[in-house]
Amino acid sequence: MKDSVKSFERYESEVRSYSRHFPKVFVNAKDATITDEDGKEYIDFFCGAGAVNYGHNNTYIKQKVVDYLATDGIIHALDMFTAPKREFIETLEQKIIEPRGLHYKIQFCGPTGTNAVEAAIKLARKNKGRDNIFAFMGCFHGMTLGALSLTSEMYARRGAGVSLNDVTHIPAPYMFEGLDVIAYMQTLLDDDHSGVEKPAAVVMETLQAEGGIRPFSNEFLQEVRAFCDKNDILLIIDDIQVGCCRTGDFFSFERAGIVPDMVVMSKSIGGMGMPLAIVLLKEDLDIWKPAEHNGTFRGNQLSFIAGKASFDWLLENHVEAETKRKGSLVEDFITKEILPLDDRLEMRGLGLIWGIDFSGFEADITERIIETCFENKLICEAAGRNGAVLKIMPPLVIEDALLQKGLEIVAAAIKEVIGK
Ligand SMILES: Cc1ncc(COP(=O)(O)O)c(C=O)c1O
Repeated sequence: MKDSVKSFERYESEVRSYSRHFPKVFVNAKDATITDEDGKEYIDFFCGAGAVNYGHNNTYIKQKVVDYLATDGIIHALDMFTAPKREFIETLEQKIIEPRGLHYKIQFCGPTGTNAVEAAIKLARKNKGRDNIFAFMGCFHGMTLGALSLTSEMYARRGAGVSLNDVTHIPAPYMFEGLDVIAYMQTLLDDDHSGVEKPAAVVMETLQAEGGIRPFSNEFLQEVRAFCDKNDILLIIDDIQVGCCRTGDFFSFERAGIVPDMVVMSKSIGGMGMPLAIVLLKEDLDIWKPAEHNGTFRGNQLSFIAGKASFDWLLENHVEAETKRKGSLVEDFITKEILPLDDRLEMRGLGLIWGIDFSGFEADITERIIETCFENKLICEAAGRNGAVLKIMPPLVIEDALLQKGLEIVAAAIKEVIGK
Protein backbone atom coordinates (compact mmCIF):
# COMPACT_ATOMS: atom_id res chain seq x y z
CA MET A 1 0.00 0.00 0.00
CA LYS A 2 1.45 3.36 -0.98
CA ASP A 3 1.95 5.82 1.91
CA SER A 4 0.03 8.58 0.15
CA VAL A 5 -3.20 6.57 -0.06
CA LYS A 6 -2.81 4.54 3.15
CA SER A 7 -5.24 6.64 5.18
CA PHE A 8 -7.98 6.38 2.56
CA GLU A 9 -7.65 2.64 2.37
CA ARG A 10 -7.50 2.31 6.15
CA TYR A 11 -10.30 4.71 7.12
CA GLU A 12 -12.56 5.50 4.17
CA SER A 13 -15.58 3.32 3.51
CA GLU A 14 -15.39 0.64 0.86
CA VAL A 15 -18.19 2.46 -0.95
CA ARG A 16 -15.70 4.82 -2.59
CA SER A 17 -15.58 4.34 -6.35
CA TYR A 18 -13.69 6.76 -8.62
CA SER A 19 -10.58 6.67 -6.45
CA ARG A 20 -10.24 3.01 -7.42
CA HIS A 21 -9.74 3.95 -11.07
CA PHE A 22 -7.58 6.96 -10.31
CA PRO A 23 -5.58 6.06 -7.18
CA LYS A 24 -3.62 9.30 -6.89
CA VAL A 25 -4.00 12.19 -4.49
CA PHE A 26 -5.09 15.28 -6.39
CA VAL A 27 -4.19 18.76 -5.25
CA ASN A 28 -4.75 21.36 -7.97
CA ALA A 29 -6.99 21.78 -10.96
CA LYS A 30 -7.22 24.47 -13.62
CA ASP A 31 -9.60 24.58 -16.58
CA ALA A 32 -9.24 21.15 -18.22
CA THR A 33 -6.32 19.76 -16.21
CA ILE A 34 -5.89 18.19 -12.77
CA THR A 35 -2.56 17.84 -10.95
CA ASP A 36 -1.62 15.17 -8.42
CA GLU A 37 0.60 15.37 -5.34
CA ASP A 38 3.65 14.32 -7.34
CA GLY A 39 3.16 17.23 -9.72
CA LYS A 40 1.84 15.07 -12.58
CA GLU A 41 -0.73 16.84 -14.72
CA TYR A 42 -3.71 14.99 -16.21
CA ILE A 43 -6.07 16.02 -18.98
CA ASP A 44 -9.59 15.80 -17.62
CA PHE A 45 -12.03 14.02 -19.95
CA PHE A 46 -14.38 13.23 -17.06
CA CYS A 47 -15.22 16.72 -15.80
CA GLY A 48 -16.52 15.70 -12.38
CA ALA A 49 -19.26 13.76 -14.20
CA GLY A 50 -20.45 17.07 -15.62
CA ALA A 51 -19.99 19.23 -12.51
CA VAL A 52 -17.23 21.46 -13.89
CA ASN A 53 -18.42 22.22 -17.43
CA TYR A 54 -16.90 25.72 -17.29
CA GLY A 55 -13.53 24.40 -16.15
CA HIS A 56 -11.77 23.79 -12.86
CA ASN A 57 -11.21 27.05 -11.02
CA ASN A 58 -12.54 29.06 -13.95
CA THR A 59 -10.69 32.34 -13.43
CA TYR A 60 -13.73 34.64 -13.76
CA ILE A 61 -16.07 32.53 -11.65
CA LYS A 62 -13.49 31.82 -8.93
CA GLN A 63 -12.70 35.50 -8.54
CA LYS A 64 -16.36 36.25 -7.80
CA VAL A 65 -16.34 33.61 -5.07
CA VAL A 66 -13.07 34.91 -3.60
CA ASP A 67 -14.41 38.49 -3.63
CA TYR A 68 -17.56 37.40 -1.82
CA LEU A 69 -15.62 35.48 0.85
CA ALA A 70 -13.43 38.53 1.43
CA THR A 71 -16.49 40.59 2.41
CA ASP A 72 -17.61 38.14 5.13
CA GLY A 73 -20.68 37.51 2.99
CA ILE A 74 -23.20 35.25 4.68
CA ILE A 75 -22.45 31.60 3.87
CA HIS A 76 -25.28 29.68 5.47
CA ALA A 77 -28.81 31.05 5.48
CA LEU A 78 -31.19 28.06 5.14
CA ASP A 79 -33.69 29.36 2.57
CA MET A 80 -33.75 32.92 3.82
CA PHE A 81 -33.55 35.80 1.36
CA THR A 82 -29.92 36.68 0.57
CA ALA A 83 -28.30 38.93 -2.00
CA PRO A 84 -26.47 36.04 -3.76
CA LYS A 85 -29.74 34.11 -4.05
CA ARG A 86 -31.51 37.15 -5.51
CA GLU A 87 -28.78 37.62 -8.11
CA PHE A 88 -28.76 33.94 -8.98
CA ILE A 89 -32.54 33.88 -9.43
CA GLU A 90 -32.67 37.10 -11.44
CA THR A 91 -29.80 36.12 -13.74
CA LEU A 92 -31.09 32.59 -14.36
CA GLU A 93 -34.60 33.86 -15.08
CA GLN A 94 -33.74 36.98 -17.07
CA LYS A 95 -30.67 35.84 -19.00
CA ILE A 96 -31.29 32.13 -19.49
CA ILE A 97 -34.92 31.09 -18.99
CA GLU A 98 -36.98 34.03 -20.29
CA PRO A 99 -34.93 34.71 -23.46
CA ARG A 100 -35.77 31.14 -24.48
CA GLY A 101 -39.49 31.85 -24.14
CA LEU A 102 -39.68 29.57 -21.10
CA HIS A 103 -41.47 30.31 -17.83
CA TYR A 104 -40.43 28.45 -14.72
CA LYS A 105 -40.34 29.03 -10.99
CA ILE A 106 -37.25 27.77 -9.18
CA GLN A 107 -37.25 25.37 -6.23
CA PHE A 108 -34.00 25.02 -4.30
CA CYS A 109 -33.40 21.52 -3.00
CA GLY A 110 -30.76 19.75 -0.97
CA PRO A 111 -27.36 20.17 -2.59
CA THR A 112 -27.01 17.23 -4.95
CA GLY A 113 -28.74 15.98 -8.08
CA THR A 114 -30.69 13.18 -6.47
CA ASN A 115 -32.30 15.75 -4.12
CA ALA A 116 -33.77 17.59 -7.10
CA VAL A 117 -35.14 14.34 -8.54
CA GLU A 118 -36.77 13.50 -5.19
CA ALA A 119 -38.41 16.92 -5.05
CA ALA A 120 -39.68 16.74 -8.63
CA ILE A 121 -41.27 13.30 -8.36
CA LYS A 122 -42.82 14.18 -5.00
CA LEU A 123 -44.35 17.30 -6.52
CA ALA A 124 -45.54 15.42 -9.62
CA ARG A 125 -47.28 12.81 -7.46
CA LYS A 126 -48.83 15.53 -5.31
CA ASN A 127 -50.14 17.36 -8.38
CA LYS A 128 -51.59 14.37 -10.15
CA GLY A 129 -52.64 12.28 -7.14
CA ARG A 130 -51.01 9.21 -8.73
CA ASP A 131 -48.17 7.03 -7.38
CA ASN A 132 -46.66 5.63 -10.54
CA ILE A 133 -43.90 7.19 -12.67
CA PHE A 134 -42.61 6.05 -16.07
CA ALA A 135 -38.84 5.98 -16.61
CA PHE A 136 -36.77 4.53 -19.43
CA MET A 137 -34.56 1.46 -19.13
CA GLY A 138 -30.93 2.59 -19.15
CA CYS A 139 -31.66 5.74 -17.17
CA PHE A 140 -29.76 7.08 -14.17
CA HIS A 141 -31.48 9.54 -11.86
CA GLY A 142 -29.66 9.22 -8.53
CA MET A 143 -29.15 7.02 -5.49
CA THR A 144 -31.66 8.07 -2.82
CA LEU A 145 -34.73 5.84 -2.58
CA GLY A 146 -37.16 7.75 -4.79
CA ALA A 147 -34.56 8.53 -7.45
CA LEU A 148 -33.12 5.03 -7.17
CA SER A 149 -36.52 3.55 -7.91
CA LEU A 150 -36.21 5.33 -11.27
CA THR A 151 -32.55 4.40 -11.88
CA SER A 152 -32.51 1.17 -13.85
CA GLU A 153 -29.00 -0.17 -13.16
CA MET A 154 -29.41 -3.36 -11.13
CA TYR A 155 -26.12 -3.02 -9.22
CA ALA A 156 -27.24 0.33 -7.81
CA ARG A 157 -30.81 -0.87 -7.16
CA ARG A 158 -29.66 -3.93 -5.21
CA GLY A 159 -27.91 -1.59 -2.76
CA ALA A 160 -31.28 -0.21 -1.66
CA GLY A 161 -32.09 -3.08 0.67
CA VAL A 162 -35.82 -2.42 0.30
CA SER A 163 -38.19 -2.81 -2.62
CA LEU A 164 -38.17 0.08 -5.05
CA ASN A 165 -41.73 0.71 -6.05
CA ASP A 166 -44.10 2.88 -8.04
CA VAL A 167 -42.03 3.11 -11.22
CA THR A 168 -42.69 1.35 -14.53
CA HIS A 169 -39.60 1.02 -16.71
CA ILE A 170 -40.27 1.45 -20.40
CA PRO A 171 -37.90 -0.01 -23.03
CA ALA A 172 -35.72 2.75 -24.48
CA PRO A 173 -36.23 3.23 -28.24
CA TYR A 174 -32.75 1.89 -29.07
CA MET A 175 -33.39 -1.43 -27.32
CA PHE A 176 -35.79 -3.27 -29.62
CA GLU A 177 -35.71 -2.57 -33.31
CA GLY A 178 -39.22 -1.93 -34.60
CA LEU A 179 -40.80 -1.40 -31.19
CA ASP A 180 -43.07 1.64 -31.20
CA VAL A 181 -42.32 2.84 -27.69
CA ILE A 182 -45.02 5.49 -27.71
CA ALA A 183 -47.66 2.96 -28.79
CA TYR A 184 -46.37 0.61 -26.10
CA MET A 185 -46.82 3.29 -23.41
CA GLN A 186 -50.28 4.16 -24.75
CA THR A 187 -51.27 0.49 -24.56
CA LEU A 188 -50.14 0.35 -20.94
CA LEU A 189 -52.65 3.13 -20.24
CA ASP A 190 -55.52 1.95 -22.45
CA ASP A 191 -55.48 -1.81 -21.96
CA ASP A 192 -57.52 -2.66 -18.90
CA HIS A 193 -55.41 -5.81 -18.56
CA SER A 194 -51.99 -4.10 -18.79
CA GLY A 195 -51.53 -4.27 -15.03
CA VAL A 196 -49.84 -0.87 -15.08
CA GLU A 197 -51.13 2.20 -13.27
CA LYS A 198 -51.28 5.53 -15.08
CA PRO A 199 -48.24 7.58 -14.07
CA ALA A 200 -48.05 11.08 -12.64
CA ALA A 201 -45.00 11.80 -14.79
CA VAL A 202 -42.52 10.54 -17.33
CA VAL A 203 -39.00 11.24 -16.05
CA MET A 204 -36.24 11.10 -18.63
CA GLU A 205 -32.84 12.32 -19.76
CA THR A 206 -32.70 13.58 -23.34
CA LEU A 207 -29.41 11.72 -23.67
CA GLN A 208 -28.84 8.81 -21.33
CA ALA A 209 -25.38 9.54 -20.00
CA GLU A 210 -24.64 6.83 -17.44
CA GLY A 211 -26.76 4.59 -19.68
CA GLY A 212 -24.02 4.63 -22.34
CA ILE A 213 -24.24 8.01 -24.14
CA ARG A 214 -27.57 7.34 -25.81
CA PRO A 215 -29.12 10.49 -27.30
CA PHE A 216 -32.86 10.27 -27.93
CA SER A 217 -33.92 11.72 -31.28
CA ASN A 218 -35.72 15.05 -31.48
CA GLU A 219 -38.73 13.21 -32.94
CA PHE A 220 -38.86 10.81 -30.02
CA LEU A 221 -38.65 13.66 -27.49
CA GLN A 222 -41.48 15.44 -29.31
CA GLU A 223 -43.55 12.25 -29.33
CA VAL A 224 -43.05 11.78 -25.59
CA ARG A 225 -44.14 15.39 -25.03
CA ALA A 226 -47.27 14.78 -27.15
CA PHE A 227 -47.97 11.51 -25.30
CA CYS A 228 -47.78 13.32 -21.95
CA ASP A 229 -50.08 16.12 -23.18
CA LYS A 230 -52.63 13.70 -24.58
CA ASN A 231 -52.79 11.68 -21.36
CA ASP A 232 -52.50 14.41 -18.70
CA ILE A 233 -49.05 13.22 -17.58
CA LEU A 234 -46.20 15.54 -16.56
CA LEU A 235 -42.89 15.49 -18.43
CA ILE A 236 -39.85 15.89 -16.19
CA ILE A 237 -36.50 16.29 -17.95
CA ASP A 238 -33.42 15.35 -15.95
CA ASP A 239 -30.78 17.82 -17.13
CA ILE A 240 -28.46 17.12 -14.22
CA GLN A 241 -25.65 15.72 -16.35
CA VAL A 242 -26.37 16.97 -19.85
CA GLY A 243 -27.73 20.43 -19.06
CA CYS A 244 -25.61 23.59 -18.63
CA CYS A 245 -24.48 23.66 -22.29
CA ARG A 246 -23.09 20.12 -22.36
CA THR A 247 -24.98 19.16 -25.52
CA GLY A 248 -24.46 22.57 -27.14
CA ASP A 249 -27.59 24.31 -25.79
CA PHE A 250 -28.01 25.49 -22.22
CA PHE A 251 -30.94 23.08 -21.82
CA SER A 252 -30.49 19.75 -23.54
CA PHE A 253 -34.15 19.63 -24.64
CA GLU A 254 -33.92 22.86 -26.69
CA ARG A 255 -32.83 20.93 -29.78
CA ALA A 256 -36.24 19.20 -29.85
CA GLY A 257 -38.22 22.40 -29.30
CA ILE A 258 -40.13 20.84 -26.40
CA VAL A 259 -41.12 22.45 -23.11
CA PRO A 260 -40.94 20.12 -20.11
CA ASP A 261 -43.26 20.62 -17.14
CA MET A 262 -40.30 20.39 -14.79
CA VAL A 263 -36.54 20.34 -15.29
CA VAL A 264 -34.11 19.04 -12.68
CA MET A 265 -30.61 20.49 -12.67
CA SER A 266 -27.48 20.13 -10.54
CA LYS A 267 -23.75 19.55 -11.20
CA SER A 268 -22.63 22.56 -13.31
CA ILE A 269 -25.53 24.76 -12.18
CA GLY A 270 -23.23 25.42 -9.17
CA GLY A 271 -20.80 27.22 -11.52
CA MET A 272 -17.48 25.67 -10.57
CA GLY A 273 -18.25 22.36 -8.89
CA MET A 274 -20.10 23.93 -5.98
CA PRO A 275 -23.06 21.94 -4.60
CA LEU A 276 -26.43 23.17 -5.86
CA ALA A 277 -29.58 21.47 -7.14
CA ILE A 278 -32.77 23.02 -8.44
CA VAL A 279 -36.13 22.11 -9.89
CA LEU A 280 -37.55 24.39 -12.56
CA LEU A 281 -41.32 24.04 -12.44
CA LYS A 282 -44.27 25.50 -14.28
CA GLU A 283 -46.03 27.98 -12.04
CA ASP A 284 -49.36 26.12 -11.89
CA LEU A 285 -47.57 23.04 -10.50
CA ASP A 286 -46.23 24.99 -7.53
CA ILE A 287 -48.75 23.66 -5.02
CA TRP A 288 -46.19 23.11 -2.26
CA LYS A 289 -47.18 24.36 1.15
CA PRO A 290 -44.48 26.28 3.05
CA ALA A 291 -41.78 23.93 4.40
CA GLU A 292 -43.48 20.88 2.94
CA HIS A 293 -40.18 19.89 1.30
CA ASN A 294 -37.52 21.29 3.58
CA GLY A 295 -33.78 20.90 4.19
CA THR A 296 -30.87 22.67 5.88
CA PHE A 297 -28.65 23.01 2.84
CA ARG A 298 -31.08 24.23 0.19
CA GLY A 299 -28.99 26.77 -1.61
CA ASN A 300 -25.37 27.34 -0.73
CA GLN A 301 -24.42 31.00 -1.00
CA LEU A 302 -21.06 30.27 -2.64
CA SER A 303 -22.87 28.12 -5.19
CA PHE A 304 -25.24 31.02 -5.90
CA ILE A 305 -22.28 33.34 -6.46
CA ALA A 306 -20.51 30.82 -8.70
CA GLY A 307 -23.72 29.85 -10.52
CA LYS A 308 -24.64 33.45 -11.27
CA ALA A 309 -21.09 34.17 -12.45
CA SER A 310 -21.24 31.10 -14.70
CA PHE A 311 -24.37 32.41 -16.49
CA ASP A 312 -22.65 35.74 -17.23
CA TRP A 313 -19.47 33.99 -18.26
CA LEU A 314 -21.05 31.42 -20.57
CA LEU A 315 -23.06 34.08 -22.40
CA GLU A 316 -20.06 36.38 -22.75
CA ASN A 317 -17.90 33.55 -24.07
CA HIS A 318 -20.46 31.97 -26.44
CA VAL A 319 -20.05 28.63 -24.71
CA GLU A 320 -23.01 27.02 -26.50
CA ALA A 321 -21.59 27.70 -29.98
CA GLU A 322 -18.08 26.76 -28.85
CA THR A 323 -19.37 23.47 -27.47
CA LYS A 324 -20.97 22.61 -30.80
CA ARG A 325 -17.76 23.52 -32.64
CA LYS A 326 -15.56 21.45 -30.33
CA GLY A 327 -18.10 18.62 -30.46
CA SER A 328 -17.60 18.35 -34.20
CA LEU A 329 -13.83 18.17 -33.69
CA VAL A 330 -14.39 15.17 -31.40
CA GLU A 331 -16.84 13.56 -33.82
CA ASP A 332 -14.40 13.99 -36.72
CA PHE A 333 -11.51 12.59 -34.73
CA ILE A 334 -13.41 9.49 -33.60
CA THR A 335 -14.76 8.93 -37.11
CA LYS A 336 -11.35 9.21 -38.76
CA GLU A 337 -8.94 7.87 -36.16
CA ILE A 338 -10.85 5.45 -33.96
CA LEU A 339 -13.77 3.81 -35.77
CA PRO A 340 -11.54 2.45 -38.59
CA LEU A 341 -9.56 0.48 -35.98
CA ASP A 342 -12.26 -2.18 -35.67
CA ASP A 343 -15.64 -2.89 -37.28
CA ARG A 344 -17.23 -3.61 -33.92
CA LEU A 345 -16.72 -0.06 -32.64
CA GLU A 346 -19.66 2.31 -32.44
CA MET A 347 -19.83 5.95 -31.42
CA ARG A 348 -22.62 8.19 -30.20
CA GLY A 349 -22.81 11.70 -28.83
CA LEU A 350 -23.85 15.31 -28.98
CA GLY A 351 -22.06 18.55 -28.14
CA LEU A 352 -19.15 17.59 -25.89
CA ILE A 353 -20.38 14.25 -24.57
CA TRP A 354 -19.32 11.28 -26.67
CA GLY A 355 -19.22 7.55 -26.18
CA ILE A 356 -17.17 4.86 -27.90
CA ASP A 357 -18.99 1.57 -27.49
CA PHE A 358 -16.94 -1.60 -26.92
CA SER A 359 -19.97 -3.86 -26.35
CA GLY A 360 -18.80 -6.24 -29.08
CA PHE A 361 -15.45 -6.82 -27.31
CA GLU A 362 -14.40 -8.84 -24.26
CA ALA A 363 -15.85 -7.68 -20.94
CA ASP A 364 -13.00 -5.74 -19.34
CA ILE A 365 -11.74 -3.90 -22.42
CA THR A 366 -13.08 -0.44 -21.51
CA GLU A 367 -11.58 -0.70 -18.04
CA ARG A 368 -8.19 -1.56 -19.51
CA ILE A 369 -8.39 1.39 -21.89
CA ILE A 370 -9.25 3.71 -19.01
CA GLU A 371 -6.25 2.39 -17.05
CA THR A 372 -3.96 2.92 -20.03
CA CYS A 373 -5.30 6.46 -20.52
CA PHE A 374 -4.63 7.20 -16.87
CA GLU A 375 -1.05 5.92 -17.15
CA ASN A 376 -0.72 8.37 -20.04
CA LYS A 377 -2.15 11.22 -17.95
CA LEU A 378 -5.73 11.37 -19.09
CA ILE A 379 -8.78 10.86 -16.90
CA CYS A 380 -11.88 9.34 -18.49
CA GLU A 381 -14.64 7.02 -17.32
CA ALA A 382 -16.93 4.21 -18.45
CA ALA A 383 -20.70 4.21 -18.86
CA GLY A 384 -23.45 1.96 -20.14
CA ARG A 385 -24.37 -1.69 -19.81
CA ASN A 386 -21.41 -3.62 -18.31
CA GLY A 387 -19.43 -0.38 -18.36
CA ALA A 388 -18.67 -1.04 -22.03
CA VAL A 389 -18.81 2.55 -23.27
CA LEU A 390 -15.81 4.85 -22.99
CA LYS A 391 -17.12 8.27 -22.14
CA ILE A 392 -15.45 11.43 -23.45
CA MET A 393 -16.63 14.49 -21.55
CA PRO A 394 -14.04 17.26 -21.21
CA PRO A 395 -14.77 20.62 -19.60
CA LEU A 396 -16.33 22.84 -22.27
CA VAL A 397 -13.49 25.34 -21.88
CA ILE A 398 -10.85 22.90 -23.07
CA GLU A 399 -8.51 24.43 -25.64
CA ASP A 400 -8.43 22.83 -29.08
CA ALA A 401 -4.79 21.73 -28.74
CA LEU A 402 -5.44 20.01 -25.40
CA LEU A 403 -8.60 18.41 -26.76
CA GLN A 404 -6.60 17.03 -29.68
CA LYS A 405 -3.85 15.80 -27.33
CA GLY A 406 -6.43 14.07 -25.12
CA LEU A 407 -8.08 12.40 -28.11
CA GLU A 408 -4.69 11.18 -29.30
CA ILE A 409 -4.08 9.61 -25.87
CA VAL A 410 -7.46 7.88 -26.10
CA ALA A 411 -6.75 6.60 -29.63
CA ALA A 412 -3.28 5.34 -28.63
CA ALA A 413 -4.74 3.55 -25.58
CA ILE A 414 -7.42 1.88 -27.70
CA LYS A 415 -4.80 0.74 -30.23
CA GLU A 416 -2.59 -0.62 -27.48
CA VAL A 417 -5.37 -2.49 -25.69
CA ILE A 418 -7.14 -3.95 -28.70
CA GLY A 419 -3.76 -4.77 -30.25
CA LYS A 420 -3.88 -2.65 -33.44
C1 LIG B 1 -28.83 12.26 -15.17
C2 LIG B 1 -28.50 12.23 -13.72
N1 LIG B 1 -29.46 12.41 -12.82
C3 LIG B 1 -29.21 12.41 -11.50
C4 LIG B 1 -27.92 12.21 -11.02
C5 LIG B 1 -27.67 12.23 -9.54
O1 LIG B 1 -26.92 13.32 -9.18
P1 LIG B 1 -26.07 13.30 -7.83
O2 LIG B 1 -25.01 12.26 -8.01
O3 LIG B 1 -25.53 14.67 -7.69
O4 LIG B 1 -27.03 12.95 -6.75
C6 LIG B 1 -26.88 12.02 -11.93
C7 LIG B 1 -25.50 11.78 -11.47
O5 LIG B 1 -24.62 11.39 -12.19
C8 LIG B 1 -27.16 12.02 -13.32
O6 LIG B 1 -26.21 11.83 -14.22
